[in-house]
Amino acid sequence: MPERILAAVAWPYANGSIHIGHVAGTYLPADIFARYHRLKGNEVLMVSGSDAHGTPVTLTAEQQGVSPEDIYSKYQAEFLESWQRLGISFDLFTTTHTDNHTEVSQGIFTRLLERGFIYKNTMVQPYCAVENRFLADRYVEGTCPFCGYNGARGDQCDNCGRTLDPKDLINMSCRICGSAPVFRETEHFFLRLSAFEDHLLDWVRAQEHWRPNVRNFTIGYLEGGLHDRAITRDIDWGVPLPLDGYDGKRIYVWFEAVVGYLSASIEWAKDSDNPDAWKSFWEDGSRAYYFMGKDNIPFHTVIWPAMLLGYGGLNLPYDVPANEYLNLEGFKLSTSRNWAVWLPDYLDRYDPDPLRYVIAANLPETSDSDFSWREYVRRNNDELVATYGNLVHRVLSMLNRNFEGVLPEPGELDEVSRALLAEAHRRFDEVQSYIEVVRLRQALQSSMALAQATNRYLDQKEPWRAVRRDKDDAAQTLWTALTAINCLKTTMYPFLPFSSQKLHEMLGLEGNVENGGWAWNDTDLKPGLKIQRPTPLFQKLDEKVIAAEEQRIGD
Ligand code: MF3
Ligand code: ZN
Repeated sequence: MPERILAAVAWPYANGSIHIGHVAGTYLPADIFARYHRLKGNEVLMVSGSDAHGTPVTLTAEQQGVSPEDIYSKYQAEFLESWQRLGISFDLFTTTHTDNHTEVSQGIFTRLLERGFIYKNTMVQPYCAVENRFLADRYVEGTCPFCGYNGARGDQCDNCGRTLDPKDLINMSCRICGSAPVFRETEHFFLRLSAFEDHLLDWVRAQEHWRPNVRNFTIGYLEGGLHDRAITRDIDWGVPLPLDGYDGKRIYVWFEAVVGYLSASIEWAKDSDNPDAWKSFWEDGSRAYYFMGKDNIPFHTVIWPAMLLGYGGLNLPYDVPANEYLNLEGFKLSTSRNWAVWLPDYLDRYDPDPLRYVIAANLPETSDSDFSWREYVRRNNDELVATYGNLVHRVLSMLNRNFEGVLPEPGELDEVSRALLAEAHRRFDEVQSYIEVVRLRQALQSSMALAQATNRYLDQKEPWRAVRRDKDDAAQTLWTALTAINCLKTTMYPFLPFSSQKLHEMLGLEGNVENGGWAWNDTDLKPGLKIQRPTPLFQKLDEKVIAAEEQRIGD
């Protein structure tokens, strides 16, 4: 029975380009996981879209003197192109700025209101007396009361991951004019989170398969007490309230963005031949995995689950494999200081698979990790080119040179050859087990260990010599090595989809690499197979790249 997997991928704010931090935290892990499950023959729905609303987008628009529509549509187009070039294989990447999303978000708001989980109240909000407007979320900045970080926003501290109330910010100032805001009364709708505190605590405590950092953070968050939160704002860009008389208000961006997972699933189904198809991904029998960076955790382990519980009948997250941060050259990424590697820019100059490889080998799964150009060039040259690419090249070249490009009969396998195939079996299963529990970095390491073992096997068997004195032995070695390479093609596929397709073609196999599924056997490659002339799988990079790229980072 195929399993059903919802890969719910955090929605990037449509106010700036994707950088390697987003790739490492969210998009690459989701893609590796989804590609694996598709290959496995499971039904996968991988959705996301532009987070088009809220103050991140309006603030950028104001700063650039253009409309929020201009900003979000520019980045929506850029994101789509980036996914395609990096091979991030969404089934649907939509935006929150669609009629469908408005309808679904309003539907959730309405039902929660009817059930008493949303209620109206007055509160005070920061108000700028200079600009004459309320200052929602990112329009105020100050010091976080929890961790002391200086750049905390009205709704959230990016440093410690806490959700905030603007009242708690220390030394608050208006992002537009810098003045100290005053507080004014305003009417808002609140999500009755307090009603879910016990239920959520029991639920999270039972999620023993979650990453400890995610589970512990959430338990700590809930044990701190769950307070009701305002889920509307005094702004005019976003999803309108499904009620008359609130023209100047919009639904809070986080409330509707998390609904995006559901609305995108519905949109995907509407576009397919079965408009009900989304249901099978949201009801029993399906598992939902949510991919994101750690600053998104409470929205996915507390707020969205509370909304789902209040709404009823839809699956809670099965796993939330949130990542820690990827730093760059030892320092935290910073968009404003241009301390980042921008994805469109990277893709203009380099191939997608080396970035996928270097980031996957360094995923911040359990603690922060670092990307450096030195490490990028080293891993590209020593691991992709020398260990994997050259292995493929050597074996295919020898087959072309000495066996006219036709895979020979292996004869009865000797002990070393059998040992290599046994290792391939073991690694294949190991990669699978690691991906299943979203330990992707380990999975890639296991896969690479097979490439290393295959190189050692060749060094031991020396087919380049054997070919002159014992051609049968060389034949056996090359058949065995190619069979191991065929295993690598599959175990590497979720990580390096472009190279695996290329390898598939060089092996002389038909169609797409995906058609072979997540399967490998040591009898798959039949003697007589006509293989192709090899072209390099990866390009060696000059050491000069390091300094040149280091130059580009920073202001
Ligand atoms: N836009 C948010 C961010 O970049 C993530 C939103 S995830 C969603 O941090 F589920 F709410 F959409
Ligand atoms: Zn903080």
